[in-house]
Amino acid sequence: MTPPRLYVNIDHVATVREARKADEPDPVLAAAECEAAGAEGITAHLREDRRHIQDRDVIALSERVRTLNLELATSHDVLALACRLQPYQATLVPERRQEITTEGGLDLKGDTARLQTTIDRLAEVGCRLSLFIDPEFEQIELAKSLGVPAIELHTGRYANTWRESPAALEDLRAAARHATEIGLAVHAGHGLTYANVQTVARIPEIEELNIGHSIVSRAIFSGIRPAVQDMGRLVRGG
Ligand code: PXP
Repeated sequence: MTPPRLYVNIDHVATVREARKADEPDPVLAAAECEAAGAEGITAHLREDRRHIQDRDVIALSERVRTLNLELATSHDVLALACRLQPYQATLVPERRQEITTEGGLDLKGDTARLQTTIDRLAEVGCRLSLFIDPEFEQIELAKSLGVPAIELHTGRYANTWRESPAALEDLRAAARHATEIGLAVHAGHGLTYANVQTVARIPEIEELNIGHSIVSRAIFSGIRPAVQDMGRLVRGG
């Protein structure tokens, strides 16, 4: 079995910087450290409210990072910047202003026309598209019908319940299998930690994991290179 690629989400390096509106810590420097520690990709979310990552960060990341996965919603200015910078991958996520973090997956039954326009514009400039969705068969099939090559399964429910029940893990396994059967590449992320990542990393269909908060939290104590290396070992089964 090929282990999944580890993509490190560096948003919360920018969260600390924005707490002071200062110029440190620098998420672009953090991204370089993550790559040096073996991360296969860097993920950043340019939110409409710019609460952590700023436009200038995405511009610098797109110049300096080997493999950039930009998370974005369908807002006009963020989409325009993404089309200009052409990151390797664009992951579409839902955004609600008051939420603390991305709380659920996209509802692909909702505003499909707007979503399809966004997908088409990003695909036209050469981005690989992924849709962040809950591990539900209906959403997976809708993702397929929108013509994207990949989905990212929301692991939030698993992250909140894994100690008490195996149900959410089973849902992830079934969703990953179904998505692969209909020809979608499968990524996963949200709420994954050093304690809960291994069972998800062992789901054979999952090709990529996006992990942020837990790595940045550990980095405060260990430094960011050891934090990424530790997570990399768990993801790769070492
Ligand atoms: N994947 C997506 C689509 C996300 O929105 C986030 C959070 O920004 C993550 C993965 C990473 O989640 P966490 O910071 O909990 O590891």
